[in-house]
Amino acid sequence: MKRIAVFASGFGSNLQALIDFSKNDDLGGEIVLVISNKSSAFALQRARDNGIKAVFLDPAQFKTRGEFDEQVAGILEEEKIDLVVLAGYMLLIGQNILAKFRNSIINIHPALLPAFKGIHGIKDAFDYGVKVTGVTVHFVDEGLDSGPIIMQQAVEISDDDSAETLEEKIHAVEHKLYPLAVKYFCTGRLKITGRKVHITQ
Ligand code: GRF
Repeated sequence: MKRIAVFASGFGSNLQALIDFSKNDDLGGEIVLVISNKSSAFALQRARDNGIKAVFLDPAQFKTRGEFDEQVAGILEEEKIDLVVLAGYMLLIGQNILAKFRNSIINIHPALLPAFKGIHGIKDAFDYGVKVTGVTVHFVDEGLDSGPIIMQQAVEISDDDSAETLEEKIHAVEHKLYPLAVKYFCTGRLKITGRKVHITQ
């Protein structure tokens, strides 16, 4: 069983989808830790409600960003974490953590990368007027939303969609896709060659 840490800054609906999936299906791993940089993140409550260790770390309490990252890295090491799952985590991952967890940190982005990178992926796609957007799960590297793509699923934008209805559609797809991607990682089915990720049988 892989030991999974989820990093979340907000509502945590993707964390919930992972928890729910693991109750009914074999995730191949156990969520043992949730870390948040926001004390008010509902994700922390979801963790506690499900008996998962919940840790709030305030970046403002550290002299430098490097010290904050060291603390995060230390907790990951203590908890013997194999996979870091970013689920609405609004901080960039520090270099030291990236180096220690190369190809073991994944993120979900609410658009079809490399289109609409950044924190407003849903609204940016909607405002641009694209007819198709979607969801991307990818490995995390040094860049912004730039690592090798694991899975993508398209979502159509119809004339009667609003930014809000599009958001609902995107989240529904996220909640199906992310647990699958985590399962593939945990069961050793992801093979990375350069930028290409193959899902093996
Ligand atoms: C999701 O839309 C995800 O794609 C993005 O942040 C949002 C997090 O939502 N990275 P939640 O906190 O999981 O509900």
